[in-house]
Amino acid sequence: MQVELRQGDIRTRRAGVVALGILQRESELSGAAAAVDRTCRGAIRELLKRRDFSGRFLEAATLFPPGLGAPRLILVGLGPRGELTAHRALQAAAIAARRAREMRAGTLALVPFGAGAGGLDPVRAAHATAEGLILGHYRFSAYRSDAGPPPLRSMVVLENDRGRAALMKAAVARGARWAEATCLARDLANTPGQDLTPERMAERAREIGRDVGAKVQVLGVPQLERLGMGALLGVGRGSSNPPRLIVLDRPPQGRRRTAVPTVVVIGKGITFDTGGISLKPKENMHKMKYDMSGAAAVLGLFSALPSLDVPFRVVGVIASAENMPGSRALKPGDVVRAMDGTTIEVTNTDAEGRLVLADALGYARRFSPVAVVDLATLTGAVSIALGNLAAGLFANDEDLAAELIAAAALTGERLWPLPTWDEYLFDMKSDTADLVNSSGSREGGAILGAVFLKHFARGMKWAHLDIASTAWSPADRPHEPRGPTGFGVRLLLEWLSRRTWAATAS
Ligand code: BES
Ligand code: MN
Ligand code: ZN
Repeated sequence: MQVELRQGDIRTRRAGVVALGILQRESELSGAAAAVDRTCRGAIRELLKRRDFSGRFLEAATLFPPGLGAPRLILVGLGPRGELTAHRALQAAAIAARRAREMRAGTLALVPFGAGAGGLDPVRAAHATAEGLILGHYRFSAYRSDAGPPPLRSMVVLENDRGRAALMKAAVARGARWAEATCLARDLANTPGQDLTPERMAERAREIGRDVGAKVQVLGVPQLERLGMGALLGVGRGSSNPPRLIVLDRPPQGRRRTAVPTVVVIGKGITFDTGGISLKPKENMHKMKYDMSGAAAVLGLFSALPSLDVPFRVVGVIASAENMPGSRALKPGDVVRAMDGTTIEVTNTDAEGRLVLADALGYARRFSPVAVVDLATLTGAVSIALGNLAAGLFANDEDLAAELIAAAALTGERLWPLPTWDEYLFDMKSDTADLVNSSGSREGGAILGAVFLKHFARGMKWAHLDIASTAWSPADRPHEPRGPTGFGVRLLLEWLSRRTWAATAS
């Protein structure tokens, strides 16, 4: 299935179905909607007049009007003009793609949602529409014998004006690539633990690296031992699938620079989290295949890096292990030594994410990065704090936090800041070692996880996204089906595309 921009007329375009976005509370139809309405003899105005459709945000209707190049027409409500955002346009486009797939239409044609009378910048509208189409069309059917409605063969975004079409072409291609990257992350998080072990994740990273011009290095147990990564090794010890540290490294393309700044993006890659000896309850344990969603976001990001012209080096660090109880597994009370020398008393083997990330942060240091961002399904507590509509944002640098929040506002992947005051770390002091990995109390759980990481990030500009709340959607939403969401991929791409660090080369 592909999404592309073509110059052409929505009225005459041959397709299984065409779709239009309709604004609410407008006295007149305008733009493509007005043109289509005239061609099909007022069918849309009739519907609005009868109040069978009002343009309410995400309301949808299917018509079979005469006179078009397509036998069916989907209308999707965009809501009132004053409330329209790129993220709303994305969600409306997602509804159109879902419907088109469910009706087995084969091909879908539409104009960019929110451009024209909607008042969005045409390039943003084209980008958001392309993203919405792919995100709404997504279905994970790799393990089904009845795969349901087949993928559409093509989705075409049409623009009549030649000049605007030229401008939008790149935006549609880029939006499509960002959404495909998100779907890659979804696929990985959907894949059962049996089929996505740390080594298998490393193979996927190698494939992606080959495609996008990134060097990929995979560190196995002997190398982790040499580096002193006792925390990552400890978490991996209970499993017969050994841990891996996966490093992707992509220099800026087509530039010769002696010193370019480096950005490090870290992902928690627990391919399955049983809790270890501190075993999780059986309810919902199957969901813990998505405990590598941070790693999936990093791989998704890398898969779309060629769509950005970033003037800096991007390094991805994935700490991957399977957290299993086994005869060699870490026991509560065991002490591990992280790469930076910090000793950690493992009071709870289920707080494994912060252990593997401690070593990933230790490794990040060697790049003297201008910024480090980690993504992790770190705590259940972040969902207690924020529900499932926002990820927790923790940072030791206000500018970095502000940049991430700005990017998130654009992509619709909400971040909400939580504090990391040093006093919180008092709860993480151990009687036996330097730190404990779990305080044993449920209070401030997401924050305690974050301040533990903050200790290992000292001296670096760092942000931590606790995505345990957003990496799995509990309900079907227009642009994300129930299950893994691919949260963070578009956010990271948006963030990197807006940063230049031109002056800060170190
Ligand atoms: N992977 C879990 C966090 C999680 C829980 C993600 C629910 C998604 C949904 C993490 O490894 C974990 O088990 N965290 C513990 C930390 C506690 C022991 C300090 C938790 O949240 O209970
Ligand atoms: Mn855990
Ligand atoms: Zn976990």
